[in-house]
Amino acid sequence: MSETEKINAALKAVSFVKTGQIVGLGTGSTAYFAIKEIGKMVQEGLQIRAIPTSEATRQLAEELQIPLVDINNVQTIDVTIDGADEFNSRLQLIKGGGGALLREKIVASITKTQIIIADASKLVEKLGAFKVPIEVIPFAANVVIRKLSALNGVATLRVKNGSTYITDQENYILDVSFGLIDDPASLAKELDHITGIVEHGLFINLADYVIVGKGDGTAVIKAGEERSGFNV
Ligand code: A5P
Repeated sequence: MSETEKINAALKAVSFVKTGQIVGLGTGSTAYFAIKEIGKMVQEGLQIRAIPTSEATRQLAEELQIPLVDINNVQTIDVTIDGADEFNSRLQLIKGGGGALLREKIVASITKTQIIIADASKLVEKLGAFKVPIEVIPFAANVVIRKLSALNGVATLRVKNGSTYITDQENYILDVSFGLIDDPASLAKELDHITGIVEHGLFINLADYVIVGKGDGTAVIKAGEERSGFNV
């Protein structure tokens, strides 16, 4: 994991942001660098309205004086820049290591151009070494854990600083190992149908670009063109 790679990916991604746009702001240590840069661009005259994907990102955006807009007052988001915990050559992702997967997926679902930024360590042949974060209603936690075990998922309730981790929506996160995942799209569909799961961290067909920092440079991979561009 390289900070330079994160910064290079972030700096490349912000070139997609233009005056007049609604911009989704991701969560995590890679998105942080993009948000800081967008803050600078705003100071220099860029006019945007932004939608943060977590309370942590909201706080950062406010500190940087990036104008915000309520997601309920927009129809679409022009461009969102966010991180990922893992991605594969089909631009399928695992997200939610930072616990913000629900708002991240809602924002991605109405974004025209979703840009994922990552250092080269996030590229995997098969998703699943990173446990899939799943946000659950506290009332349903054990119900969901039992249903996941029927899918060969081994769930651990996320704990932070000695206490159960609570999301921005006041739910729990289960970190679930399914082993290496052969077919992330069908697993995502199965998870979509478990009552008590609010949202899961498998992001399928949601990334338009992945920008990967690699050494001193970046590789830009566009959805649908993975084969030609995928050589990070
Ligand atoms: C936040 O909930 C996540 O989806 C992050 O986007 C993901 O964990 C990547 O974070 P880093 O950039 O810190 O690795």
